[in-house]
Amino acid sequence: MAKAAVSLRQRDILDLASMEPSEYELILKTAEEMKKLINRDIKKAPTLRGKAIVNLFFEASTRTRTSFELAGKYLGADVINISTSTSSVTKGESLRDTLLTVEAMGVDAIVMRHPAEGAAHYASQIVKPVIINAGDGAHAHPTQGLLDLFTIKQYKGRFEGLKVAIVGDVLHSRVARTNISALNKLGADVHVAGPSTLMPREVEQLGVTVHHRVEEALEGADVVDVLRIQLERQKKGLFPTPREYARIFGVNAARLALAKEDVLLMHPGPMNRGLEISPDVAYGDRSAITEEVQNGVAVRMAILFLVLMGGKPLEAID
Ligand code: NCD
Repeated sequence: MAKAAVSLRQRDILDLASMEPSEYELILKTAEEMKKLINRDIKKAPTLRGKAIVNLFFEASTRTRTSFELAGKYLGADVINISTSTSSVTKGESLRDTLLTVEAMGVDAIVMRHPAEGAAHYASQIVKPVIINAGDGAHAHPTQGLLDLFTIKQYKGRFEGLKVAIVGDVLHSRVARTNISALNKLGADVHVAGPSTLMPREVEQLGVTVHHRVEEALEGADVVDVLRIQLERQKKGLFPTPREYARIFGVNAARLALAKEDVLLMHPGPMNRGLEISPDVAYGDRSAITEEVQNGVAVRMAILFLVLMGGKPLEAID
């Protein structure tokens, strides 16, 4: 594992491809301290008192938005949520004007989810608050990637040499792209599997071994990360019937038995239970899916702390 960096090199968190393993490690180590805070009776530290964070979500979210809100609040910041279905975006306000409006209110950080690839990068170029990408189209979801790294480290203690199988709708998944780029940098052996219609073209160039039979990807795997079938992004014809998908590609007990005995089963959520994952394994003893959610709060606390406190030592949280 890389030695933790002293501070993050860039002010915004846009993707994991442009960050170094030493920066991931800094975030993961900080998150370990944050997780202790979450498990305390009184989960409040005044570290970010006086800082204002806006969650600006142009797409649906349960886990990411709520965990950023809790993360900010546990650290004493003021957190406001803007969901575009109830904002002036419905009156035709542009992304640029929405960002400028939020900036004018004096916020310190904007956590942004948007359906267009590159939206967070664009935001970082036009407004001053720190931008944290909470998902931009099929491109990147760095905080999910970091919470997945945190979960893998918690259970496996390393990344180097682990066989990680990422299974399902790789085509539409920013989680897959993010995790592939980070895990490759960390020396894991990444395999992907799913129907060929749900694989991006030239997927091999991402540095993965591609399988069209899920069994091959799962064979001997240390970690299995199941992706949601993104029904809302499906173009006609990419998808067989749900029954056929579950039968051929779904991760169930029989398939999971092909992986190592101590396999770690992950899913970023939300799950289509009975489609890409069967309920027995989703809630079975190999599953870390609920743990991922708790880790998401700790990792987002770490990220908010690091981007907003810019280099102040971690002891500041006591
Ligand atoms: C993911 C997302 O939005 O990219 N969800 C999440 O943040 N937990 C995955 C998904 O929607 O399938």
